[in-house]
Amino acid sequence: MTGKEALETSEAQIAVHWQEEEYYYPSTKFIAQANMTDEKIYDRFSLDNFPNCYKEYADLLDWYEYWHTILDTSDAPCWKWFTGAKINASYNCIDRHLPKNKNKTAIHFVPELENEKVEHITYQELYVRVNEVAALLQDFAGLKAGDRVTLHMPMTAELPITMLACARLGVIHSEVFGGFSGRAAADRVVDSGSRVLITIDSYYRGGALIDHKEKADIAVEAAGKEGQIVDKVLVWQRYPGKYSSSFPMINGRDFFVNDLLKKYYGKRIEPVPMPAEAPLFLMYTSGTTGKPKGCQHSTGGFLAYAAGTSKYVQDIHPEDVYWCMADIGWITGHSYIVYGPLALCASTVIYEGVPTYPDPGRCWRIAQDLDVNIFHTAPTLIRTLRKVGPDEPAKYNYEFKHMTSVGEPIEPEVWKWYYNVVGKGKAVIVDTWWQTETGGFLCSTLPAIKPMKPGSAGPGMPGIHPIIYDEDGNVLPEGAGKAGNICIQNPWPGAFQTIWGNRDRYVSTYYAKYCKNKDSKDWRDWPYISGDAAVDAPDGYYRILGRMDDVINVSGHRLGTKELESAALTVFEVAEAAVVPVNDDIKGKVPDLYAALKSGILPSDELAKKISNALSAEIGSIAKPRNVWLVPDMPKTRSGKIMRRVLSAISNKKDVDDVMTLANPEIVEVITKIVQK
Ligand code: WT7
Repeated sequence: MTGKEALETSEAQIAVHWQEEEYYYPSTKFIAQANMTDEKIYDRFSLDNFPNCYKEYADLLDWYEYWHTILDTSDAPCWKWFTGAKINASYNCIDRHLPKNKNKTAIHFVPELENEKVEHITYQELYVRVNEVAALLQDFAGLKAGDRVTLHMPMTAELPITMLACARLGVIHSEVFGGFSGRAAADRVVDSGSRVLITIDSYYRGGALIDHKEKADIAVEAAGKEGQIVDKVLVWQRYPGKYSSSFPMINGRDFFVNDLLKKYYGKRIEPVPMPAEAPLFLMYTSGTTGKPKGCQHSTGGFLAYAAGTSKYVQDIHPEDVYWCMADIGWITGHSYIVYGPLALCASTVIYEGVPTYPDPGRCWRIAQDLDVNIFHTAPTLIRTLRKVGPDEPAKYNYEFKHMTSVGEPIEPEVWKWYYNVVGKGKAVIVDTWWQTETGGFLCSTLPAIKPMKPGSAGPGMPGIHPIIYDEDGNVLPEGAGKAGNICIQNPWPGAFQTIWGNRDRYVSTYYAKYCKNKDSKDWRDWPYISGDAAVDAPDGYYRILGRMDDVINVSGHRLGTKELESAALTVFEVAEAAVVPVNDDIKGKVPDLYAALKSGILPSDELAKKISNALSAEIGSIAKPRNVWLVPDMPKTRSGKIMRRVLSAISNKKDVDDVMTLANPEIVEVITKIVQK
């Protein structure tokens, strides 16, 4: 789909399905306790005060040394924030809280099985555990500032402990979502140049103990074939002292973290004062080509932005119990489970398993038991809970003051259910629009200052100045109410610094299109391209319509169509593959995969299954297509390009429109028969 087609469909969709909504207002009770009630924040963060305004976020942190330059543009568009400053993220999330709050819970770890005890890790305990792990990483694994280490861990307390241990040393962590396959982990091990892989033997999901260690074996072998030797695999144990995987430990390569830690009992590691612009972590995300991009996030800028937005948008106070249901394997978990909340000395909840296990009341029992008052999740889960447990929230005695929606557009009907049923009409909602690349929120209401509007993310954050371009590069007037390509006019501290090892791709994907002077060192010449389509309403609220590129948003997770297609092509029998998004009531979008087979090969259910399995093995089970359609040929333009628009219309049971430009218009009917039979 070209950008133009995406826009046209989107505009048509809004006109039909998505009316302008009424405002909802925060309660006086919420406003009375809110962190940010001063409307002048928008003036303080106006373009006239840019970039110095961001000192306000930086001042939420403790610095060893201040910066000499707040925004260094000399290597535009690779922006450097707070140059000259020194800071440590682990210190800011742990040590500085000890004098007053060592006895407070930093992390509530909730195991999936309800008969297992919730682990309440105090700041003191977090300090002890992070120090000992840091000692192990430094001494046993030989890691030092600037080295990369790949983590392939699910939702356990050991994940943030490992991340913070890396941060203490200035080691760059690259956490791969636990649900991704071993081969997906291998790609990221190779790209980041990690020689250490940190994993866990097993974890619970959906009532089953999942054997996770196998993925490390696959990852190390596959990485080795591409020339990246992993010499140490550090294996946490779900049950310390007991090995819960059926895959043998490899002598000399695999080590149990819990065994090694005994040697580091009582060790303390001074946090390393890192340059503000030193990378803190890599987070891989999907793009339009097959290879995932390692978004490189900075230490000072990222942490300042995560802390500032956690304080003012999430409204986190130190006494709050904050539960973000995302996975730490995605950016949301990095910014808004680990770094933001811990920098503010809150208690953050980490839940191991499936939100509806063993029944749809589970989330609300956790909320009630821990007295969670800030809740953060994605529309896909809200839709699921609305479908499978609409009466559950009323049965439990919890009270949220604040709720977040993130990751995909939320339909006004779903928003209202979230507000009335989950929030019981008492909690404010923020619909936060942002991306892996952006480190933190781009558009959202400030909850005590701006009213909510169902289905709209809201205005740009203070200091974030959006602008909408049409396909020809013209700027749409403010409040035009027309769909276009939403960009950000100015840099901000949370933005990624580059794509790891691929500056050219960073510039061409995110900055080239609307840049008028490639030699310019002035940030005004380099608007950031989000790749999303959006509409700016007359009140300045942005409604995000979705991706304009070949990326599918499944349950709030980005999958590159090219990635899925290249995974399908690893199956010998497949000649051509095309992936298109299909609308889904719960997940937003799901992929449909079309495959044309090599000549002489006959379609069969087994072959379709084999292709589907290849996607799970190459990427992970979230990439499993809704359907694999084996077709005799793809609809193609005369120049041979696969017309995904036509396939998408067939999958979504929409009119295919004009097919006369196709080289093989007759195939449309053949495919339609296969799909809509
Ligand atoms: C893409 C980014 C945001 C962190 C988690 C996902 C879509 C994100 C919203 C929202 C509408 C949204 C966009 C964006 N998106 N938040 N509130 N309303 N769409 O990060 O995997 O990098 O995905 O998710 O299309 O580009 P990600």
